[in-house]
Formats: sequence, C-alpha cells, structure tokens
Amino acid sequence: MCGIFAYCSYLCEKDRRHICEVLCNGLARLEYRGYDSAGIGIDGDSPDSPTILFKQVGKVASLRKLISQHASDADQSSNEAAASDAKEATNVGIVDMGKTFITQTSMAHTRWATHGQPSPLNCHPHTSDKTNEFSLVHNGIITNYKEIKLVLEKRGYTFHTDTDTEAVAVLCKYIYDSQPNKRLNFTDLIKAVIKELEGSFAFVFKSQHFPDEIVAARRGSPLLVGVKTDRKLKVDFVDVELPTADTTEKLSNDTENGGLLTVPGGNAEPKLRRSQSRAFLSEDGLPQPIEFFVASDASAVIEHTKRVLYLEDDDIAHISEGELHIHRLRKDDGLSSVRAIETLEIELAEIMKGQFDHFMQKEIYEQPESVVNTMRGRINFDSRTVTLGGLKAYLPVIRRCRRLLFVACGTSYHSCIAVRPVFEELTEIPVAVELASDFLDRKTPVFRDDVAIFVSQSGETADTILAMRYCLERGALCLGVVNTVGSTLSRESHAGIHINAGPEIGVASTKAYTSQYVALVMMALQLSDDSISKEERRQQIIDGLHEIPAQIKGVLMMDKALQQLAKETLAKEKSLLIMGRGYQFATCLEGALKIKEVSYMHSEGILAGELKHGPLALIDEHLPVIFIMTQDSLYPKVQSALAQVTARKGQPIIICNDDDTTISEQYRTIRVPLTVDCLQGLINVLPLQLLSYHLAIMNGVDVDFPRNLAKSVTVE
Ligand code: M6R
Repeated sequence: MCGIFAYCSYLCEKDRRHICEVLCNGLARLEYRGYDSAGIGIDGDSPDSPTILFKQVGKVASLRKLISQHASDADQSSNEAAASDAKEATNVGIVDMGKTFITQTSMAHTRWATHGQPSPLNCHPHTSDKTNEFSLVHNGIITNYKEIKLVLEKRGYTFHTDTDTEAVAVLCKYIYDSQPNKRLNFTDLIKAVIKELEGSFAFVFKSQHFPDEIVAARRGSPLLVGVKTDRKLKVDFVDVELPTADTTEKLSNDTENGGLLTVPGGNAEPKLRRSQSRAFLSEDGLPQPIEFFVASDASAVIEHTKRVLYLEDDDIAHISEGELHIHRLRKDDGLSSVRAIETLEIELAEIMKGQFDHFMQKEIYEQPESVVNTMRGRINFDSRTVTLGGLKAYLPVIRRCRRLLFVACGTSYHSCIAVRPVFEELTEIPVAVELASDFLDRKTPVFRDDVAIFVSQSGETADTILAMRYCLERGALCLGVVNTVGSTLSRESHAGIHINAGPEIGVASTKAYTSQYVALVMMALQLSDDSISKEERRQQIIDGLHEIPAQIKGVLMMDKALQQLAKETLAKEKSLLIMGRGYQFATCLEGALKIKEVSYMHSEGILAGELKHGPLALIDEHLPVIFIMTQDSLYPKVQSALAQVTARKGQPIIICNDDDTTISEQYRTIRVPLTVDCLQGLINVLPLQLLSYHLAIMNGVDVDFPRNLAKSVTVE
C-alpha cells in the first residue's frame, strides 16, 4: 500500500537525469504497492533552494513524461505541453537535467489513496509550506491528523491538501520554527514530530535546513535501507544509538496550548550518545563514496545492492555524510542494540517479467518450481518424512494446544480454509479459521493454550499483524507462514515457516496460494508424525506431494484451451458462480476472488451444500456456473447439486478428473489430473487462475494493476 523510495549518494558525481532515472526505476518496482499517482522530490540548484517536486496522477510512466517535459533539453513542443500542466504538478519551470551533484538526497513515492482523491495536490512528497522547507513521503495512516491540523491551524498554519500526511509536514515546520535557538538536529526534530503521531507509518524526511541529510522512520509499515559501496563494510551491522534520556517529551498533553505541541528543550544540548557508525569507517579514516537506498520493499533496491538493513518499529534512521545512524525513539525498549546488514538472496531476474506479458502470468507459470522450493530440504520423499526446522522446538506445545487458530486475509485466508480438513484429520485438534479483520472486530477470546497461525504472503498486512499482536498479548503461541523474509510478521511471530515462493509482484496472489497450501499441509504432516494410526495416510499425502509439480506443469499446458473457453463462453458474461464442496470450497472462494479482482466480473464461490438454501434462485440458462467435481468422497453430493442446476436449464462448465466418464458429453469440461483428495485443490485452482487472467486481458484490464487494489494492504 503505497511505495517509498529514497536515494542518497555521497561523494559520487551524479547528474540530475541519472537521479530522476534511479528514483523512477525504484518507483516502477514498487508500483504494485499502489499506483494512482506518483511523485519525486530532488535537490534544487543550491543547498538552500527549494526541493524540486514532480507529481503526477497515474502510473510512473506518466510521471516520467512530466519530468521529461520539464527537462531543459526537451524540444519546444514538449515545453509548451509543460506550460499547460496542472500547476500543482511541479513547483518549477524548466529544470537543468545535466546539473551534477557530488552529494545529494532525493525521495519518491507511489500512492494508493486513503485520504483524498488521486491528484497532483494529494500526491507525495508533501511539503510544510510554499518554499518546501520540509518535504516528506509517507506510507500508512496518521489517525490523529485532524487534531494536529486543528492545533496548527489555530496557530496560523495553512493546509492545502486532503491528506493526513500534510499535517506531519507542517508539524515539522512548526516544531522547527518554535525552538528558541534552532538547535535541534534533524534526528531530534523528527523524534519530536514522531512522538506526536498516532497510527501506522513509514516516512522519509528531507529539509532545506539540513541539506544532504535525510531521516527515515517507521512504525507498523516496512522500511529498509540498502547500502552500496565499492569497499567492504567494516562490520555487518549498525549500532543502535540509544538516548541517555528522552530528549523530547510527548507534547500532546499540553492542554493550555490546545491539546498538543509544546516544543522540546530547544536550549538543551542533544543528549544522544554520539557514536561513529562502525560499519562505514574506512581503513585510512578518509571519507569514501557510498550510496544509500531507502525503500518500502527489497524489490526496489535489488538492482543497486543486495546489502540491506531492515528498520524496526520506532527506529529513526539518519543518513548524512556517507554514514547511516540508527536511533531509537525511546530508550530501554528491550530491542537489540544492533541492526544487521543482511545479504538479500533474491536475484534481479526474479522481479523481472522475462518472456511473460505480465507478472501475474509469470507467477502462474512459476508454480511447478515454486511448490518445489516450498518443499525443498523439508520433505524427504525416500523416507517419507517432513522436517520444518523452524517449528521443531515448538512441536510438543503445538500438539498439546486446545485449538489451532488460523488468521489471514484474502487469498491467504483461502489457503487456510483449504487445509482445515487435513489439519482436523491428521492432528485431531479443533481448528478455527478467521478473517483477520473480523477476528479483531469481535475481540475473539484467545487463551494461553491456543496456537495461532498467521498466514500472509507479504507479512505486512495490517489486519493480520494486528491480530497477531492481539494474540501475543494474550499469551498464545504465534506462528507465521510468510513469503517475504524480514517482514513484520516473520520477525514478530514466535516461529514459523517461510514458504519460499519467491517474490510475488502481481497484485493477484497465485503462486503464494499454492505454496502456502503446500507449507500448511507439510505442517499438518509434521504435527501428526507421532501418530502411528495416521502413518499410511501421511505416506499417501507425501507421495501425492511428490507428483504435484509435474501435475501442475501438465495443467498449465491447457492454457490455450482455457483462453479459448474464456473467449467463447465467459468473456461477455456479467457474473459467474463457482460451486464445490469439502476440500474444493476453498478453491471456489479463491477462483471467484481471482476472477473478480482482475477481470472485474462479478463472481461468487458457493458451497454446493448451500445451493438449495438460496443460490439456486439465481440459476437459469443465462448464468454461467463452474462446478468443481473432482473425485473424492463428496463426489455424489456434488453430482446431485449439478443435477439441481441442470434441471433449471443451467449450463455448467465442469472441472473434473481426466478419466471421469460419468459426465454427459453435452457439458463443457476442464479435465485435470487426479491427486490425493486433500491436495486436489492445488491442481483445481490452476484453471481458475488462468481463466481469470485471460478474462482480465479480454476485458482490457491492466492485470498487474487492477483498479482500487494494491499488493500489500498495510492499513486497516
Ligand atoms: O500479503 P497477504 O497474503 O497478507 O495479503 C492478503 C490479501 O490482501 C491478498 O491475498 C489479496 O486478497 C490478494 N489481492 C488476492 O489475490
């Protein structure tokens, strides 16, 4: 949900064109997180000249166009176009793209609107005033922004946008203006600002008062710093600099001043323990060229460097003079005193589309390999055993628990529904599956002897994280099943499993679903490996898993036929029902979600057992219905639901097994290989993923960027 990218280069000569290119490329990698508008803020011609802003509605391509229209070497016609641009899109006329900088700081943002419509005005970077004394980019939501605005308005400050973010920019200026001797350094100033804020956020701040510096801060929204340098870093970590005393007080309790905001000790010397950032020391003590990239996810920095440091909540990162310093908002909060500089394991190719037209298509086609990666090193197919290293120490506790609570959103929730039956069967522990938002709304009772499993591709979904924190507070063992290494969920849970599906960039989750499914089945297998009575069943499932990658490959070869089916039978329809039961209920839900989110066609997943309790009223010869009727113990029941639909002239499309001869030839079929009942959903979901992809293309949808959605939903 929104993407942040910032670029700081120190002692490396870069021209403005290069800097804009780096920023736009970074944004393009983050575009899947939000894509209704984009903007950048770059240095002016001299240290005290205003930050130059470019903001544009739409995708990064439109922003690139706006920037090129303002370039000094642009031709006359594009300069005329620039003149007619909306005024608020930029604060400059023509910009010298050839101007070089030895040291510079710049920032960029791609937005998914929460407060205020997509417009150049509401687009980030936001500024404190007309001369851009402070500018910032923000992910998340500031829940007390109205109160802050009110107090600042009383003191004569004005606001021009509909956003919560602008309140923070103006607050920076207010605190800066109000200190008697302007002695606060940039870090302390931002600390004072952050202490006023409620909600979740990641920020990058830049200021004319602190040229060549940036400050980044996070709480509840991810942020990492990539480091690029030719020399080896002295150490693989950055020391956290703790305040010896709080240099600033929370100001909001000052009722006399309208409920908030007195200014921190402007006369006091900053009480930070200043230490030199050991990682960045050079052998000869001389300053060295270095580049830093701050981003809301690793995909934006990977083309520059694999060396990254993940910020923790309430970390304040300060980049200046080629060094990165990490400060804490408050002292003694029990967190580690260093932040590791890690080496990312993803390759650039993994976040490129390669031969595919879209990320969604690429990710659907990656599934034969991604499920193998989920199982790699964890299943021994010879001895038919499963070992999930991350869970090993917790197995006795999990086996003794009173309830397994699965909590997730969207597709991740569907993967939990898909594996509920196999967990119940193999572990004989009661299982509840919860949508994270509803789980929190209901203030669901949670106990110390519950085990809560949080499933999330991104590991950053706000509802799922909040649900996990709720369970942590109540003493439950919290496990994460996550794709993104280093994400909040993977760091804050007690233990868990990385699904290892590789980066998933398409907004529609595809390969993460099948990998979550496989990871969770492995978990059920391992939990039951102390039960002799379940051994035969376990071995059957492990053998089934062995065949799955090849079977997935086989289904993907039907792509052309599915494209044809989408074109001939479904493309012109307004609505589509998907029915099944038992293991296939999850497939129905997931198939319907895929179809609605990328093709905008209304679609509903229906439990076939519920047909006669309402949905049957919808059936006539016009409404297409996909039946999932692969062979398991519920086959006769699904057959009877099919009979009820065809008796009302319904025209079903049936997903059935290759060798099923009982289905009348008058119906269209999608034939898939047979596997073990509890794994069949892994196969059956594939034609639905492909159909949704083709329907989206036929409906002219930009499939990796469906309207109103974003990849990672980091707001409640
Ligand atoms: O990152 P998460 O798995 O926590 O995301 C949960 C949902 O937002 C996500 O699955 C969403 O439903 C997808 N767009 C579905 O394709």
